[in-house]
Amino acid sequence: MKRAKIAIVGAGNVGANCAVWAAERELGDIVLIDIPEMADRTKGRALDLAQCGPVDRFDCKITAGSDYAAAEGSDVVVITAGIPRGPGMSRDDLIQTNVKIVKSVSEQIAKVAPDSILIVVSNPLDAMVYTTWKTTDFPTNRIVGQAGCLDIARFRTFIAMELDCSVEDITALLLGGHGDDMVPLVRYTSVAGIPITQLIPKDRLDPIIKRTRMGGGEIVKLMGTSAYYAPSAGTIRMVEAIVKDKRRILPCAAFCEKEYGVGGYFVGVPCMLGRNGVEKVIQVELDAEERKALDESIAHVKELAGIADKFL
Ligand code: LAC
Repeated sequence: MKRAKIAIVGAGNVGANCAVWAAERELGDIVLIDIPEMADRTKGRALDLAQCGPVDRFDCKITAGSDYAAAEGSDVVVITAGIPRGPGMSRDDLIQTNVKIVKSVSEQIAKVAPDSILIVVSNPLDAMVYTTWKTTDFPTNRIVGQAGCLDIARFRTFIAMELDCSVEDITALLLGGHGDDMVPLVRYTSVAGIPITQLIPKDRLDPIIKRTRMGGGEIVKLMGTSAYYAPSAGTIRMVEAIVKDKRRILPCAAFCEKEYGVGGYFVGVPCMLGRNGVEKVIQVELDAEERKALDESIAHVKELAGIADKFL
């Protein structure tokens, strides 16, 4: 059976760590691509990682360059290209620069890997997935954004810290855009099947929800740049679900038309991910408060898509 080929465009902190997680899981051969000015750094990172193979015992070809031809025939392409946010910036501040970058990347990838599944990671996430969709003629099941895996990972981490229990037993759900108005769903969050509300009182849970929403900003404040370990780990969970056709249910930015009444935008929703990319979007029942919060988040996603349109 043919090995999967995974191209990662943008070999900065997120891209390089995606390569690490993908190699460790032997998900396929990996191609790192970055702009010509970064060619040496990119080649160096690929070589450095390839040299982990004998130590960590993974067998993947890891190559690098700035020529998109290297991504030819890729099964999955992860787009992390773009500038990250710095201190005092919101994800939305990146839109003008990153629309242009993601548009150019998407155009080039569409030429060399027309059958690939595209996972967009660049920020502001929801507008960047939209940009890729507008730029390529890929069917919507083959375009998906990473955010929910990261946001849920943060939510689960904070819950585990509060309960001093294993993160493994926590399952959570979260909807909406990848912004501070994302919607963690308490009613769909549990620890080994026990509703979270039976374990954590509201006055302790509310700050956890707030911290989850602001989780990206907390890290920017600490590090002066945006997070990369957890964003790349979340991305590679999605790659794994696709290349192994696992049909996992993961929160991703997927195209929603009638689903959740979105009307043709990419929004964070639970999806089934498999060999065809987004196999389906799963709709859950929402109460009035959850619905209102989701509507606010969707309105923000649409506003960002409108701004992206101006630069496309
Ligand atoms: C974050 C960035 C990567 O949430 O969006 O950390």
